[in-house]
Amino acid sequence: MELILKNIGVLATPVGNTAAKGKSQGEITLIEKAAVGIEAGRIAYIGLCERAPAADKTIDCEGRLVTPGLVDAHTHLVFGGWRQKEMARKLAGESYLDILRSGGGILDTVGKTREASEDELFEKGMGLLSDMLAHGSTTIECKSGYGLNLADELKQLRVAKKLGEHAQVELVRTFMGAHAIPPEYRCDREEYIDLVCDVMMPAVKAEGLAEFCDIFCETAVFTTKEASYILGKAVEHGLIPKAHVDEINPIGGAEMAASAGCLSAEHLIQASDEGIQALADNNVVACLLPGTSFHLGKDYARARDMILAGVAVAVCTDFNPGSNPNLNLQLPMYLACNRYRMNPAEVLTAVTLNGAAAIGRADQIGTLEVGKQADLVIWNSPDLDYIFYRYGNNLVNSVVKKGKVVAQNC
Ligand code: NIG
Ligand code: FE
Repeated sequence: MELILKNIGVLATPVGNTAAKGKSQGEITLIEKAAVGIEAGRIAYIGLCERAPAADKTIDCEGRLVTPGLVDAHTHLVFGGWRQKEMARKLAGESYLDILRSGGGILDTVGKTREASEDELFEKGMGLLSDMLAHGSTTIECKSGYGLNLADELKQLRVAKKLGEHAQVELVRTFMGAHAIPPEYRCDREEYIDLVCDVMMPAVKAEGLAEFCDIFCETAVFTTKEASYILGKAVEHGLIPKAHVDEINPIGGAEMAASAGCLSAEHLIQASDEGIQALADNNVVACLLPGTSFHLGKDYARARDMILAGVAVAVCTDFNPGSNPNLNLQLPMYLACNRYRMNPAEVLTAVTLNGAAAIGRADQIGTLEVGKQADLVIWNSPDLDYIFYRYGNNLVNSVVKKGKVVAQNC
């Protein structure tokens, strides 16, 4: 064996190669006094420490908790600038959509992203990714959507591709040209939709720049009718659909996402009972974003109702410069317990196996099982409960990606 992690106090992991739903979301495996053996970047042994095979190298976990590497299945990682000035505007009474309607919000970041060079975006992205890794995220989904024209959407995705080639974190890419209508198309939204579908999508696909396609379906952004048209085109172009739905207003977005064949639906704060049932019936993973509810001071998604209905729930950061500038997935994990009333085992599944399922990677990552990729977090924690209790601190001790130690805190 190449490497053994020995003296693991508790190993905690969901199991399986598909999203865990309903009761099974909370059914995880816990092994005390465990060890993990790694060979060629994959897990080759899981079991009791005393039965572990000999290895060339050993990491002594000194009684710590070990879990799968965290999968952050929803971020907007590549963007120019920041938007700290929006806090004062919100405190003065403007809503998130008011700011967007006035040309701020997403459109403010569009301006800054268009101005930024690929090198600038790359440097910034590398810094953010190393911060994410230090907080335990080993795989990250990354959306475009701050270019909103052909050249700048491609620029964002090319930067994301290069980041994936250079960073220790694994990146999966999502085209989100339908994130907002850019100012130059304000009076001709149909023309912009055609640009997204007939020009951007083929270009993204031809260059292999994205696997998924996402859309912001919301009042004053894209209607459910437009969203289902755009996602239908995405499928024609070989992109797997996802959708930001029912974040601010209940407009039947969850139902739309289910009937458009989305792999995941995002936000879902205002999803209706029918929408939740449609997600369950169509195996759509719910990517819930409690950090966004927290930062915007909004309601929290009905995670318990979703789990009861048999929807697989993932929890992600939504890291972006506006609605949630926090990249530490440990904070949403805490909020999922504290606000959604999910228990630690359900949340662990949400940020590992179900996050992996939301990006089509559940057969490779998201659990600690023999044959899976060796992505693990060693926590400064004696058990699983503690990491959902000492909120606000980075509790990661070290991070292993594909069998290599890639981050070490103290
Ligand atoms: O998921 N809601 C739409 N898009 C992002 C926010 C983007 C922004 O505010 O820059 C989200 O919250
Ligand atoms: Fe988002």
